Amino acid sequence: MVRFFSFILFFNFLLSCSNNKDSVELIDVDKLPLIPYPQELEVSRQFFELNANTTLHTAPVFKTKLYDLKNTISERLTQPLKVSNKECDANNFLCLKKLSSTDKKPANPEYYELTITEQGITLSAYTNQGLQHGIQTLYQLFVNDFHKKQKRKQWFLPCLTIKDYPQFNHRGLLLDVCRHFYDKDVIKKYIDVLAFYKMNVLHLHLTEDQGWRIPIDKYPKLTEIGAWRLDSHNNKYGGYYSKDELIEIVQYAEQRHITIIPEIEMPGHAQAALAAYPQYSCTGGPIEVVNDWGVFKEIYCAGNDSTYLFIEDILNEVMEIFPSEYIHIGGDEAPKYRWKHCSKCQHKMKEEGLKDEHELQSYFIKRIEKILAINNRKLIGWDEILEGGLSQNATVQSWRGMDGGKIAAESGHKAIMSPTSHCYLDYDLKSIDLKKIYSFDPIPANLTEKAKSNIIGGECNMWTEHVENEKELDRKVFPRMIGLAEVLWTYPKNRKFEEFYLRLQQHYPILDEMKINYGPETTGALLSEIFNSDNIFIALNKNLEDLSLKYFWKNDSTIFQNYISPIPFRSGELHVQAFKGNLPYGDELIQTYQHHQALNTKVNYQCNYHEAYAANRDRALTDGKIGSLDFRDGAWQGFWDQNVEIILEIKDIKAIKKVSMNFYQYANSWIFFPQKVSVDLSEDKKNWHSLSPIFNSNIDLSNAKSIKSFSFPIDQSVKASNSKYIKIRAEGLDQIPAGHEAAGQPTWLFIDEIIVN
Ligand code: ACM
Ligand code: ZN
Repeated sequence: MVRFFSFILFFNFLLSCSNNKDSVELIDVDKLPLIPYPQELEVSRQFFELNANTTLHTAPVFKTKLYDLKNTISERLTQPLKVSNKECDANNFLCLKKLSSTDKKPANPEYYELTITEQGITLSAYTNQGLQHGIQTLYQLFVNDFHKKQKRKQWFLPCLTIKDYPQFNHRGLLLDVCRHFYDKDVIKKYIDVLAFYKMNVLHLHLTEDQGWRIPIDKYPKLTEIGAWRLDSHNNKYGGYYSKDELIEIVQYAEQRHITIIPEIEMPGHAQAALAAYPQYSCTGGPIEVVNDWGVFKEIYCAGNDSTYLFIEDILNEVMEIFPSEYIHIGGDEAPKYRWKHCSKCQHKMKEEGLKDEHELQSYFIKRIEKILAINNRKLIGWDEILEGGLSQNATVQSWRGMDGGKIAAESGHKAIMSPTSHCYLDYDLKSIDLKKIYSFDPIPANLTEKAKSNIIGGECNMWTEHVENEKELDRKVFPRMIGLAEVLWTYPKNRKFEEFYLRLQQHYPILDEMKINYGPETTGALLSEIFNSDNIFIALNKNLEDLSLKYFWKNDSTIFQNYISPIPFRSGELHVQAFKGNLPYGDELIQTYQHHQALNTKVNYQCNYHEAYAANRDRALTDGKIGSLDFRDGAWQGFWDQNVEIILEIKDIKAIKKVSMNFYQYANSWIFFPQKVSVDLSEDKKNWHSLSPIFNSNIDLSNAKSIKSFSFPIDQSVKASNSKYIKIRAEGLDQIPAGHEAAGQPTWLFIDEIIVN
């Protein structure tokens, strides 16, 4: 009887316990939404109940205010958490513990250990920063209602052990607030998200050709004049932060263990400063704040000693605001045109025994490094600071590929990796999507073992030329930045894109709560052409498993039909839209196709297309896919600093009535129409019949993008109209013409589709 009674009691207890849990949503322990994924994780199927009787034991050794642990949890309980600074209880505790150097744990100061049992939560770390990482992990173990700030009597957390620390020490986001200005609250929002994903650097790009955003008391015109430009509608555009605002941002970041590294650009990308103080340029001015995008020839005069005093004064005020160990001084994209033509710069080169303008740049950077060193600060510069000799303690940020970082690391310098191939968030999803950024390995290939430790981490770079507001900024940065956060934290053995992608889906409701207007992970669809012996098909390939694709041909209909299998090739405008569930996913893809006689003809090249613009490689010019006004659309083929010379060999020759081809022009990107295009025909590749060449003098230096068709009609009376071989030669501009900022530099030729009818 007694036995039976106790059995009922026990049964009731079980019921009430499971009722508690069953009445609420529990996190799926098989799919914990942890980003970045921890180094070690062991999880069980038990849960700890956190409720108003849970006591938070704060270790007095953690001096800094943990900015929101108690409040964050208390706000989500019907009664606030209890707090104690005594030893941890045996039951129902949330206990913070300081690790000491005698603990046998990885010595990484960011290390934390999170243990959850049915009795309580223990979070241990060496530092406040480690503790904060553990707190962010803890938050990610709650269900979504927690992030929605719902109040509950109790929350259930999975019992587990996590031991975690980052692979790289430097995990950053560069934010350009110059091309477009973002106010203080946007920056604070970004600091919160950076902390949530365990990033630790916000690289704030504060000065540019198009705007100076930090007040310098000694030189008030830097913001009075330098912070403002005329936009494309001739309206005044700009802004700057007050010193108080910058200090507030720095403190906000510090509380969240994010270091703000300010970037003050020199010697190039400094036209806004030179508009305000033209006496530090080579010409003396007048100079205006730039209202266009690109690289501009006005740079600081390196031959004038007062330039260095000016910069020293600026840096002194910058260092008063920003306590970071590193100061970024830019150093990228500094055209040497002004220095070549400046008597002061040329005199300085003679005086210092410098053999060229690259050595002058190196001299310039070394003088700046000394200014920083006196103040116990270290210099970071873009990889151009390698040219002409790297200064002694400089850290290199590698952006033009991985080589700069590799060279720096092998010569004993620290390097931060942010190559355009993987880390540029201003690039569109066709070039860099989430999967691409997630595949990034910050360690350059073939780096010696010894040099590996010099790769201190990476950054994703958000340049804002074409990003005008917070909504667009969010769409560019998210979710790609989250991919990089995991790459920089989690060791490769724990990184699998498919698993990351599933965890990320669980984070979107959290990002919604953070008011992040995230964009898609990738473009929805990829097109490929399938050439069979007698038919051509277009395959629509989805970029993610959980998408579906629909399409229509314009002029037939504008109603999307489901894509099931490859569709027959034809001339026309194909519209493709991806869907995730019932919702459109990403932008509609529009591709024009054109049928013609030379489709799928092999092209023989007497020149080399550039790897970055290879498109469909040897079939790019005969795949029937017509390049659009976006020269990065994957249809255009680009040739750098050379003429185009190609021969087509047509398989089934019919009478040719016309040969035509498109060229592209966009002066801002140094792409120009050819000067001369000629077409020759031959039956045997020995005797050639030349058609009248076309000369072109339409070289437009404005920033308009345009496409021009060069067309060669063929007189049917000439025997050559039955030719098997078509030779095309396009001669580009040798140099960018005078009147352009990059006058004298080589040029690009962009061509697409040789249309033979
Ligand atoms: C850069 O993207 N010019 C560093
Ligand atoms: Zn000069």
